[in-house]
Amino acid sequence: MLDTNTIRKDFKILDQVVNDEPLVYLDNAATTQKPQAVLEVLRAYYETDNANVHRGVHTLAERATAAYEASREKARAFIKAKSTKEVLFTRGTTTGLNWVASFAKEVLQPGDQILISIMEHHSNVIPWQEACRATGAQLVYVYLKDGQLDMADLKAKLSEKTKFVSIAQASNVLGCLNPVKEIAGLAHQVGAYMVVDGAQSAPHMPIDVQDLDCDFFAFSGHKMLGPTGIGILYGKEEILNRMSPVEFGGEMIDFVYEQEANWKELPWKFEAGTPNIAGAIALGAALDYLDEIGMAEIHAHEQELVAYVLPKLQAIGGLTLYGPENPSQHTGVIAFNLDGVHPHDLATALDYEGLAVRAGHHCAQPLINHLGIHSAARASFYLYNSREDCDKLVQAILAAKEFFNGTL
Ligand SMILES: Cc1ncc(COP(=O)(O)O)c(C=O)c1O
Repeated sequence: MLDTNTIRKDFKILDQVVNDEPLVYLDNAATTQKPQAVLEVLRAYYETDNANVHRGVHTLAERATAAYEASREKARAFIKAKSTKEVLFTRGTTTGLNWVASFAKEVLQPGDQILISIMEHHSNVIPWQEACRATGAQLVYVYLKDGQLDMADLKAKLSEKTKFVSIAQASNVLGCLNPVKEIAGLAHQVGAYMVVDGAQSAPHMPIDVQDLDCDFFAFSGHKMLGPTGIGILYGKEEILNRMSPVEFGGEMIDFVYEQEANWKELPWKFEAGTPNIAGAIALGAALDYLDEIGMAEIHAHEQELVAYVLPKLQAIGGLTLYGPENPSQHTGVIAFNLDGVHPHDLATALDYEGLAVRAGHHCAQPLINHLGIHSAARASFYLYNSREDCDKLVQAILAAKEFFNGTL
């Protein structure tokens, strides 16, 4: 297990009392807290280096540009991409997936198919719905088996009609890991592009985009200790070269004439306008922090927490859990419902005990409908969570059960 006592010292926000109880932050799938190292980099950037990038020759502009591009290199190394040309700064996963769907609009023909799963986040649903609407392509869903992706269903639905397969590596509701490497192989066999939504995987486990052999991989900085408003879209260089920019303006051009313009080379052709410079630099600091602890160690830590807490939650009568039953197949995202209690009431009861969990549809309404529920509560762990936090979650759910059973 990681030494969470030491790690928590880097996160001042965690050291507070909420409703007279010490805060237990279990909403990491929504967003994560930021260590001092990230906050200090943000502050130092604005205090000493603030300037626009790629434009000035003065010292501050050169420093800002160097730090911005150094962060791109850190992101490249983090996901093991071949080249920084393949690493685009975005606003987050949503932007990345929208950019890929925009490329899809250029290549899809009526009758083509896009294969996604029923567990996808709205960010990996709606851009594809829009691409279908614009092109006459069809959106096809893979469903579930035993709380996980049904690979037989996926194989049955893949065909030469399939042009894009877009799947989350880790679900933000079910807490399952999807075999995206295997799926990429299958997608490529039928000539489809493989897109991976890495929002819930990149923060929690080692990523190697070359090994996965995906064509695109999108993730968000704020879910991995970085600031909001910054993320990465990885794309294979050869594909990005064929892909049109989605936004146009300053920064992304080479020459502009009265009636036309041409684009800068990769990766800058996709980065129109002044980017989120401070965010990109601070994301680099977050990646440094994660690297220092080790992504394999973070993954192992979360696996241990799940192995510890899942059986305790499974033992609570009236608590329905979603996703794989086997802790070894479960990520640190656990969604649940308590019989007869609305998840918002449950989350409010947990908040009274100092626990921050999320309740709602988790931006996955097709999945929630498919499960036959209206919403669910969700606890999600990260590197600063401990077994003690798990115990508090179990105790707080038991206390809520007692309270609501008394009032029902
Ligand atoms: C699986 C998944 N995909 C995409 C997103 C969207 O991320 P963002 O809002 O940072 O763009 C999320 C956010 O919760 C997510 O969990």
